[in-house]
Amino acid sequence: CLPIHPEINAVIYSEDVIEARVAEMGRLIGQDYQHTELLVLGVLKGAFMFTTDLVRHIYPYPASLEVDFFKASSYGSGTTSSGVVQLDSAFKLESVAGKHVLLVEDIIDSGNTFSRLVAVMREAGAATVRVAALLDKKARRRVPFEADYTGFECPDEFIVGYGIDYAEKYRNLPYIGSVREEFIRH
Ligand code: PRP
Ligand code: MN
Ligand code: MG
Repeated sequence: CLPIHPEINAVIYSEDVIEARVAEMGRLIGQDYQHTELLVLGVLKGAFMFTTDLVRHIYPYPASLEVDFFKASSYGSGTTSSGVVQLDSAFKLESVAGKHVLLVEDIIDSGNTFSRLVAVMREAGAATVRVAALLDKKARRRVPFEADYTGFECPDEFIVGYGIDYAEKYRNLPYIGSVREEFIRH
């Protein structure tokens, strides 16, 4: 594999560790949706990598599995949430009516994004809405919110990689790590 990115301080979840956990999550989800028509809805941009890996591991196969993406963001280029979740105006909300929706997120932090998205999906008439999050930063929660499937409960550190950015950088890294202090603008 490639050398560690020079701006990364330490690898927290390696490629292998992520892969093994994503595979387990896929089996849990597969068992729960065995006889269901499932719509997997990845939340862009952060969940692009997790979503594409997760759907490969959803087994047993649901009655049908549809994949779509929805863009929602609240962080911009800063290190803390603005609290205002910007939603994708181009997404056709009619497409979730009557469907069993699994929202896929890379990380739950304050809980703002997810609580907002779950509400939006319910209003749009989704039959059920569940959430799969690779990482859960419980210590930072401001909106009470629990994911239905969680990969790892993670420490309150500034982490990037595997889809997660800091000011749009590092999404491409195949592992999750912390950024060296000198590269964070406070
Ligand atoms: C990040 C992350 C989650 C959300 C979690 O997205 O990908 O979607 O924040 O934080 P919260 O629980 O405090 O809402 P971001 O707004 O950075 O957009 P991005 O996915 O495009 O990077
Ligand atoms: Mn995001
Ligand atoms: Mg971000």
